[in-house]
Amino acid sequence: MNTVVLLSRDRLLLQQLQQAFARCAPQVRAVLADDPGAAEAPLAACWFPPAGRLQALPKLRLIHSVAAGIDHLEHDPGCPALPVCRVVDTGHRQGMTEYVRWAVIHYHRGFDRVLRQQTERCWERPLQRPAGLFKVGVMGLGSLGAAIAQDLAGAGYQVRGWARSAKQLPAVQCFVGTQGRAAFLEGLEVLINLLPLTAETRGILGGETFARLAPGAALVNCGRGAHLCLDDLEQALSSGQLRGALLDVFDEEPLPADQRLWSMPGVTVTPHMASAASHDCIAQQVAENLRRLNAGQPLLNLVDRAQGY
Ligand SMILES: NC(=O)c1ccc[n+]([C@@H]2O[C@H](COP(=O)([O-])OP(=O)(O)OC[C@H]3O[C@@H](n4cnc5c(N)ncnc54)[C@H](OP(=O)(O)O)[C@@H]3O)[C@@H](O)[C@H]2O)c1
Repeated sequence: MNTVVLLSRDRLLLQQLQQAFARCAPQVRAVLADDPGAAEAPLAACWFPPAGRLQALPKLRLIHSVAAGIDHLEHDPGCPALPVCRVVDTGHRQGMTEYVRWAVIHYHRGFDRVLRQQTERCWERPLQRPAGLFKVGVMGLGSLGAAIAQDLAGAGYQVRGWARSAKQLPAVQCFVGTQGRAAFLEGLEVLINLLPLTAETRGILGGETFARLAPGAALVNCGRGAHLCLDDLEQALSSGQLRGALLDVFDEEPLPADQRLWSMPGVTVTPHMASAASHDCIAQQVAENLRRLNAGQPLLNLVDRAQGY
C-alpha cells in the first residue's frame, strides 16, 4: 500500500528521487523496478519508463509522471490504460518565467545581433524599441504558459496567447483553437511554445507557422522537440524569415553530438534546463497522491489521457 516504484532510464534521477522520498516522505517506500517490493506497488512514478516495466507490475493502479508532461509515457507501447497524474509546481513556473524572460529580452534588445557583431569587432547599436511595441506570443496558456504570458505583459510587452479553450488573462490578447491560430501568429516578433505534445500539436512549429510571423522573428521552443520541423526551421533561418531560435527541448535528449542543430546558424541550444520541479516537490506530490489513492479520495493533477495532457 505504501510502496512507490520509480521507473526511468535515468539512473541519477532514480537515486535523487529515492533520496527525496527518504527526506520528504519517509512513510513511503520508494523502490526500483528490480526490488521484490515493486510487485506490491500501487503507484509508479515515471520519467521515460523502460518499455514493458509498467505492464509487469501486477498491483499497479496509478501512473505518476514526475514532470509536467506525460508524452514520455508514449515511448512504452505497453503502457497500461490506468489513470495518470503529473507534477504541477510553482518552482516550475518560476524557472520557466526566468528562462522565457531572458529569451524575450535577448531578442527584443538585440543581444543576439551584438553577440554576433562582437565576433567581427563591429560596433553598431541596435535600435531601442519600447517593449509596448514588441509583439510576443505564447502558445499554450496552461499552468506554465498563462504565468509566462502574464509576466511578459507585466514587463510591458504586447502579449498574445493561444489555447484550445477561451481564456481571460489581464493585458493578454487571447486566441482560441484552430480558427484563432492565424490571427494569433500574425506579425509576432517572438513566438514562445509551451504546448504539450499531443497528436494535434506534433509538428506545429513548421513552415506554415513561421510564414505568419514578422520577418526576422525569433522562436523559443520550451514545449517538446517533436513540436518542431527541423527542415522548416533550417529553411526559415536561411531565408531570414526567422532570425533565431532558442531551443530547450529535442526529439532525442541528450542532443547527439552529430546533430545539425548544434551548429545551425541562429540556433541556441540549451539542455532542457528551462524548468524542473524539485525532487522534494515530486516526492511530496507523489506521496500525497498515493495517500489519496489509498483513501479513495480525488487525485491531484489528474491528466485527461484521451486529450493527451
Ligand atoms: N523545457 C522545460 O524545461 C519544460 C518544463 C516543463 C514543461 N515543459 C513543457 O511545457 C508543456 C506545457 O506545460 P503546462 O504545465 O503549462 O501544461 P498544461 O497546464 O497542460 O497546459 C497546456 C496548454 O496548452 C493548450 N493546448 C493543448 N493542446 C492545444 C491545441 N491543440 N491547440 C491549442 N492549445 C492547446 C491547453 O489549452 P486549454 O487550456 O484550452 O486546455 C493549455 O492551455 C508541457 O507539456 C511540457 O511539454 C517543458
